[in-house]
Amino acid sequence: MSHKSAKDFFRPLAVGAPMPPREIPARPSRAIHFFDPSNEKMAAKIPGMVGTVDVLLGNLEDAVKADNKVAAREGLIRIGQSTDFGPTQFWTRINSLDSPWVLDDLTALVPAIGDKLDVIMVPKVQGAEDIHYIDRLLAQLEAKAGITRPILVHAILETARGVANIEEICGASPRMQGLSLGPADLAADRKMKTTRVGGGHPGYLVREDPPKGADGTSQIDAPRAIFQQDLWHYTIAKMVDACATHGIYPYYGPFGDIADVVACEDQFRNAFLLGCVGTWSLHPKQIAIANRVFAPSVEDIAHARRVAAAMGDGTGAVMIDGKMEDDASLKQCLVLVALAEQLAEIDPELKAAYDAIEVQA
Ligand code: GLV
Ligand code: MG
Repeated sequence: MSHKSAKDFFRPLAVGAPMPPREIPARPSRAIHFFDPSNEKMAAKIPGMVGTVDVLLGNLEDAVKADNKVAAREGLIRIGQSTDFGPTQFWTRINSLDSPWVLDDLTALVPAIGDKLDVIMVPKVQGAEDIHYIDRLLAQLEAKAGITRPILVHAILETARGVANIEEICGASPRMQGLSLGPADLAADRKMKTTRVGGGHPGYLVREDPPKGADGTSQIDAPRAIFQQDLWHYTIAKMVDACATHGIYPYYGPFGDIADVVACEDQFRNAFLLGCVGTWSLHPKQIAIANRVFAPSVEDIAHARRVAAAMGDGTGAVMIDGKMEDDASLKQCLVLVALAEQLAEIDPELKAAYDAIEVQA
């Protein structure tokens, strides 16, 4: 088989389509807030949410009833055409590639609001062939509509085969912007035995060893601490490595227990610590959680600046509060500092909090 030349990878896939991007900019995207454009009450609130959340996403796929698919698509077009999104990114989640709706989604959305759409989220991606299909179709539609900025593509990781093919998906097109975990569909596709949308499960645990009785035998019925484990650790870690390898961005996904803001925050923080840049929000309450969790804390930035000041040219090692810091710990600190600077540009409250930090010697 003769592969496409590396030189051709960055050529448009249709005559007159915009040049594919060489870098995916690191735009703030702590929360991707989902709304149903067929729900008029919800849709009416969207213009007022510009500037309060990093990404507004009009959802056309699951959670929109089959009878409402056309209304959702039309509602999204109306919102896209009539809203000035300012600093807020505007995304959509189209229907899956095996559905009867997706072709109309793309052929209607691109000419109508393709100049406003930053990213198209594609659900249930199985392999590179799904991204190739979208890539070519978008190029044709962009060329036809005279769109000058390429629309980016985000894949949801929610099939076993998608997880197995994660590398080829991330590298399938220069348009690839990132990946989200789709824990609900992924659980079903893998035949996991859960019934939730994201989050943990009390049955997935390890238990402390039993204490020994006086006769040296294990007291298996004695009270023993249990430690709930994270069902999603493997997939998120895999996603983070694949995205970092390909210069694109990993996200957690939906957390369905809207009332449990505590467990939601924990799950989001695990994803942040492992390397994710953001998550989905299914309710305005979750925007606040995501904005807090996916920004470095004031303590982290204070520490990072202290290490940077002490490390001078960035080589060698220093001791700070009894701990060794070196080139590699400085690099971790600089990741946090870069993220803080990027977020401070769009979030005045965060900027004030970071600016108020005094550098400790
Ligand atoms: C999201 O789409 C999921 O299936 O979890
Ligand atoms: Mg899904």
